[in-house]
Amino acid sequence: MSDPAQLVQKIRATLAPCRLGDWPTPLERAAALGRAVGLADLTLKREDRSSARYGGNKVRALEFLLAGAPPGTVFVTLGGTGSSHCLATAVHAPAAGGRAVLAQFPQPDTPASRAVAAACQAHAALVVRARARASLPLAVLAAWRRAGALGPRRWIPGGGAHPRAVVGHLVAGLELASQVAVPPDAIVLPLGTGGTAGGLALAVTALGWPTRVVGVRVAPIFVANRWRTMRLANSARRLLARHGIRLPPPASRIPLVVVDGLGPGYGHPTPEGEAASRLASEHGLTLDPTYGAKAFAFLLQRATCNVQRVVFWHTFAVPGPQTELVP
Ligand SMILES: Cc1ncc(COP(=O)(O)O)c(C=O)c1O
Repeated sequence: MSDPAQLVQKIRATLAPCRLGDWPTPLERAAALGRAVGLADLTLKREDRSSARYGGNKVRALEFLLAGAPPGTVFVTLGGTGSSHCLATAVHAPAAGGRAVLAQFPQPDTPASRAVAAACQAHAALVVRARARASLPLAVLAAWRRAGALGPRRWIPGGGAHPRAVVGHLVAGLELASQVAVPPDAIVLPLGTGGTAGGLALAVTALGWPTRVVGVRVAPIFVANRWRTMRLANSARRLLARHGIRLPPPASRIPLVVVDGLGPGYGHPTPEGEAASRLASEHGLTLDPTYGAKAFAFLLQRATCNVQRVVFWHTFAVPGPQTELVP
C-alpha cells in the first residue's frame, strides 16, 4: 500500500467518526519483559491509554459506532458486569451527545471486574442486570424497552462487534505502520467478539505485511472464533468498498490464527493467566484476568511458535479516578 496515513485520512473523511480518543496510542518497547518470555523484541501497543477519561481498545470502535447519532440518543448495549465495552460506551456516550443503557450478565468477581462494574453503575443512565447468563435476553429486552422512555435509541452489539467498529481497529493497525521500522512477526491480542482482531487482520493484509495476528480466545467458542472474526472483517471490507474505499485484496489466506486461552470460562482467571499477570507486573505491566492475562499467557507458552518480534495489543484499561469522577 502506498501510504497508510492517507488511507486513514480517507476513512475518517468518509465515515466521519466522532473523536473520543488520543491518537496515536503509544508503542512501547518492553525489552526486559521480552527477554523474560524469550522474545528478541517485544513491544506493547498501549490501547489501554487511548483516552484519559477511559481507554482500552473499545474506544476505537465507539468512535465509529456513536458517530452521527441525534442529540439525546440512548445507546443500548450488553456485556458482562466487568465488561470494559459497556463501561467505555457509558463513559464516552456523553461526548457523542447521548447516554448509555446497559444489559449485563454476572461474571466472576475479581478486583478488575468489580471496579468496572462500579464505574458502569456510575456512568450509565441505567443498568439492567440479569440474574444469570441464561436470562440475559430478558434483561436486553427490558433495557431496550426502558431506554425508549429516555430518548431515541441506537443498538450497539455486544462487544461493539459491528463492521464500523472493525474499521476503527483497522485504523489502529494502520497507525502501527508509522510506529515500527519492520513489520512484527506477530500481533498477539485477546479475542472476544472478534472486532479488534478482524480489524488488525485487515490492516496487516492491506499493508502487505507477513505478520500473523494471533487472537487468544477468551470467550466461548460460539462468540470468539475465526469464522465470526473473518465474517466481521469481510463485512468491514464491503462497507468500505460501498463508500468507494477499496482495500488491497489479500495475497493469500488472511493471517489470522485463533488459539484457545479460555480455561473454565469467560472472566474466570486461569493459572496460566495468573502466572503471566505476575510476570508482567514484575515489569510494571498491569494485566486483567479476563483478557490481557490470558492473551499474555500465550507468549509464555509459545515455545513451539516461530515468532521473535511481537507486538502485544494491550487492550484493558483499569478504571481510574478520572473514570469515577467525570460525570
Ligand atoms: C479489554 C478487552 N480486551 C479485548 C477484548 C476483545 O475484543 P473483541 O471483542 O474486539 O474481540 C475486549 C472485548 O470486550 C475487551 O474489553
